[in-house]
Amino acid sequence: MFGDFNDRQEKYLSHILTSGRHLLQLINNILDLSKVEAGKMKLNLEPFSVNRVIDEVQTIIKTLAYKKNIEIQLDLCPEVIMYGDPAKIKQILYNLLSNAIKFTPEKGLVMIHTLEAAEGVPVDRGGNNPVTVGAKSLLLSVKDTGIGISPNDQERIFLEFEQSEQTRGKGYEGTGLGLALTKKLVELHGGQIWVKSSVGQGSEFTLLLPIKGVAPDNETANSDGESA
Ligand SMILES: Nc1ncnc2c1ncn2[C@@H]1O[C@H](COP(=O)(O)OP(=O)(O)OP(=O)(O)O)[C@@H](O)[C@H]1O
Ligand SMILES: [Mg+2]
Repeated sequence: MFGDFNDRQEKYLSHILTSGRHLLQLINNILDLSKVEAGKMKLNLEPFSVNRVIDEVQTIIKTLAYKKNIEIQLDLCPEVIMYGDPAKIKQILYNLLSNAIKFTPEKGLVMIHTLEAAEGVPVDRGGNNPVTVGAKSLLLSVKDTGIGISPNDQERIFLEFEQSEQTRGKGYEGTGLGLALTKKLVELHGGQIWVKSSVGQGSEFTLLLPIKGVAPDNETANSDGESA
């Protein structure tokens, strides 16, 4: 109606759009976290294809990776049908992948790896802290060649508003809510999440999710006697 925008107008409009999207994501994260804390977050459990969900998230994340010249590599086990909430699993993956891209410099690499783990198999979580798989599970990891996380920060970053020494106040976008929400969504699925990383050497976030899901009361299926 008012004709074409000039270059400056277009630039400002794109800033407004980006800021609007960030704000929406922030509000959604806060709402989701409050919902979980109020015990009102319900999972819509159904059987779904894990590879399909990975493919869908990858389509969304590809542009972010492309902008930083980051390659995404997949190493997926043959089709796994999991019982869970596909939208929430997608949200979990999106959070991990967007972090991996955000904290990896240009021309880096992000890898998604999946593996089926049988009941009773020990899984190395780094340090002196292995876990035994409770019921047949999916191991899904997102690994990057980014800036890494120091040992002091590796537990803290899963708490609300916590960011690592390397990134806090360094101009990275974000408020430190993504991983807190991710961990809660993983636990609602009866799963666990942990990170292995060293500064400057990249990070690997791994999920352990029971393939048959959890009872609707969200009883923990991968319980090893502690909350990870
Ligand atoms: N792949 C990674 N490499 C290095 N550091 C990471 C990685 N993922 C997370 N972190 C560290 O953990 C912190 C918490 O991550 P989280 O996703 O919760 O917050 P955020 O990305 O800063 O903000 P938000 O997700 O709310 O937009 C990050 O700020 C960063 O310091
Ligand atoms: Mg994040």
